[in-house]
Amino acid sequence: MMKIIVKENYEDLSKEAARVIKREMQKKPNLVLGLATGSTPIGLYKELIRRHKEGLSFSQITTFNLDEYFGLDSSHSQSYHFYMQKNLFDHIDIKPKNIHIPDGTVKDVKRYCAEYEEIIKRVGGIDLQILGIGSNGHIGFNEPGSLFTSRTHLTKLTESTIKDNARFFEKKEDVPRFAITMGIQTILEAKKIILLASGQNKADAVAKSIEGQITSQVPASILQKHPNSIFILDKAAASQLK
Ligand code: PGA
Repeated sequence: MMKIIVKENYEDLSKEAARVIKREMQKKPNLVLGLATGSTPIGLYKELIRRHKEGLSFSQITTFNLDEYFGLDSSHSQSYHFYMQKNLFDHIDIKPKNIHIPDGTVKDVKRYCAEYEEIIKRVGGIDLQILGIGSNGHIGFNEPGSLFTSRTHLTKLTESTIKDNARFFEKKEDVPRFAITMGIQTILEAKKIILLASGQNKADAVAKSIEGQITSQVPASILQKHPNSIFILDKAAASQLK
């Protein structure tokens, strides 16, 4: 079942997401948490850091990130490794050995992706997966047209995603063309999913995902089939919902 929560603004959305995570951590201190990057979860991570300062411990948490650019190493300022350290991990008590982010520098990608899946399985699967959504409806880097049955794999970014992400790079040509991403099936196997969307430029993708047909052209629409997914939106992102 899909649950929709609409908050007044980005700050409230971030606080709500942090509350859900905290509740899940209280139920299961060794929670396996799937994490996302991009602009949207930054407020959530700030809120988690604030709660950590107030005593919330991440020492038993295991994390798996959704994706990483292919070809960027962890020291690159736009890599998702760098992002996660800067925006969350440097400020909480998570154990480095419990952090998993796809490695965009591996040689044997196929084998590496199979291993990533294997590690997720070994820890008992992802309990709670955080997602953003692309303006084209992508989740992770599973672009329109991706198979719902996909698992962690190397994928090519669409022009629309390259354009959306160009703001983080000096020029559009610098945006990597490929990424390693969890597949849609990997994401769907998470026991609970929270999708966060903020801002007018997500409104169309959000409306199609929640009220439209389930289609691989809008990857997030498959979440309609997930037994426990929550969309946390701000008013702007919810503005095209009927
Ligand atoms: P954003 O990206 O949070 O930077 O908008 C979301 C996504 O592409 O999944």
